[in-house]
Amino acid sequence: MISAKMAKALNAQIQLEGQASFLYLSMAAWCDKEGLDGCTQFMHRQSGEEREHMLKIFHYLSEVDTHALTPAIKPVAHEWTSVTEMFKEVYKHEQKVTASINKLMDISLKENDHTTNNFLQWYIMEQREEENLMRSLLDKIKLIGEGPMSLYYIDKEVEAINAAELAAEGEEEA
Ligand code: FEO
Repeated sequence: MISAKMAKALNAQIQLEGQASFLYLSMAAWCDKEGLDGCTQFMHRQSGEEREHMLKIFHYLSEVDTHALTPAIKPVAHEWTSVTEMFKEVYKHEQKVTASINKLMDISLKENDHTTNNFLQWYIMEQREEENLMRSLLDKIKLIGEGPMSLYYIDKEVEAINAAELAAEGEEEA
């Protein structure tokens, strides 16, 4: 059993991960509407990942005999002014998630909650990878440039990054 404070903070994290999943799903729909196939696939995969992050906490709470609360999702945007703005928002959201995971870590350390601390280690590593991925993606977009002629190349680049992510996931599962 974990403390009420830890349980409340983990349930808040469930909300943040669920929110990310729906935000990224909306971004996938916008990319699809804009004809950006690579970005659509990328955001669908990201959305699915966030749902998994949410469920991982759900199952952890159940494992430590604590009530997991299904989160209320706040309304998400449906339009973005450009693909760069959209990915900047993803990066910002990931930074917010990282800060929140760090706070959870702080609580677990203060409370000598070694079980939760051990559980959270995976999220620390995951956030480092996610932030790095979004940063490198934004760097690529900057290199390609943002004119209308660039969109095709940006989309192809995001498609290649998505394929690499899928291959890496496949290797982890094997
Ligand atoms: Fe689960 Fe990308 O934060």
